[in-house]
Amino acid sequence: MTNLMQENQFAGLALPNRFALAPMTRTSAEASGEPNLLMANHYEAYAKGGFGLIITEGTYTDDRASQGYANQPGIINDGQVAGWKAIVDRVHEAGSRMFVQLMHAGAQFQANRYTAQPLAPSPVAPKGEPLGLYGDQQTWRVPEAMTEADIRGVVDGFAQSAVNAVAAGFDGIELHGANGYLLNQFLSTHFNRREDRYGGILENRMRLILEVVKAVRVAVGDEFPLGIRLSQVTITDPDYQLPEGEAGFRRLVEAVRDAGVNFIHTTDGDVRRTPFIDGAQSLADVVSGVEGVDLIINGSIDETNVQDLANTYPEALLALGKKALANPDFVQRLKDGKSLADLDFGMLLPKATIQNELAWREKNAA
Ligand SMILES: Cc1cc2nc3c(=O)[nH]c(=O)nc-3n(C[C@H](O)[C@H](O)[C@H](O)COP(=O)(O)O)c2cc1C
Repeated sequence: MTNLMQENQFAGLALPNRFALAPMTRTSAEASGEPNLLMANHYEAYAKGGFGLIITEGTYTDDRASQGYANQPGIINDGQVAGWKAIVDRVHEAGSRMFVQLMHAGAQFQANRYTAQPLAPSPVAPKGEPLGLYGDQQTWRVPEAMTEADIRGVVDGFAQSAVNAVAAGFDGIELHGANGYLLNQFLSTHFNRREDRYGGILENRMRLILEVVKAVRVAVGDEFPLGIRLSQVTITDPDYQLPEGEAGFRRLVEAVRDAGVNFIHTTDGDVRRTPFIDGAQSLADVVSGVEGVDLIINGSIDETNVQDLANTYPEALLALGKKALANPDFVQRLKDGKSLADLDFGMLLPKATIQNELAWREKNAA
């Protein structure tokens, strides 16, 4: 484990080790979107448990249509920024660094305190059903297609939220370009049926992402760690594939690098999966073959494969989701050679809130 437990440089930042907490929505903020003490205790536990980098849950970026879930945190006003600042301070005191994940829900819209009408690239709903973990909505609403003015509003929301993230003390920003949320919807030929300069060929479908990256880079300055999470899969469609295949994904990675990101966070069901319609590489393989961007890998990482992955991707951070939920002290336990639990999904039922997790822990400790 030596190499994984060592201090390292990532996106220009010193990190205590190569373990990151993956972003995980817990719908436990105040109804106003303000982060609270419950969340501070939650995130601090992962920092104290040894994760060198904590990435927040998806956090909404404007008061139009970016919020996707009830009790999702935002970062668009003073109260929300103050709530995050208190959390970032606690994580820093525990010795870890913290990035915020900025997210616009687009068509994956289950609850929003500002509007009942989702906005997305085209009037196309997600496949499958809304996530019961995050709310009681039974069917997806059909979104309205964004106008150019709506798109300008999205870009401005990300840029202003980035300024707010700096004010809250975050060490970096991850844009949510994965899992079927708005930025990913523009890339997707399922969601994006536009016939204007934001639809059609890949260069058009990636236009919004590049506009957001450039605007955020200008907002935070040249040195600030800025990255994007990318996937093909979405929360309700594990089979989506980019029609442009592996070469198309590489073009996207190079384009976001040239627009100003210094890291890419790949996510897939399994980090080793080879998901393209052609070629034999994983998402992580493609990114690691591109010069000039750092890499975070994610997908079914646990104690059995960390060392192999560290060998394959010697510079990458390893982001853990479910295994971290089951073991907030994963890194410390791994260091000490202690046993590690698997996630019992009962912990996240009936809703994935921190309150339910605490009740589950109390019951199971008894
Ligand atoms: C409860 C829960 C909430 C999640 N919320 C988010 C999120 O807000 N943003 C995101 O990019 N991914 C989210 N994910 C996906 C995880 O970050 C991760 O990609 C996924 O769990 C696969 O990694 P794993 O195999 O280590 O769990 C969530 C996953 C879970 C289980």
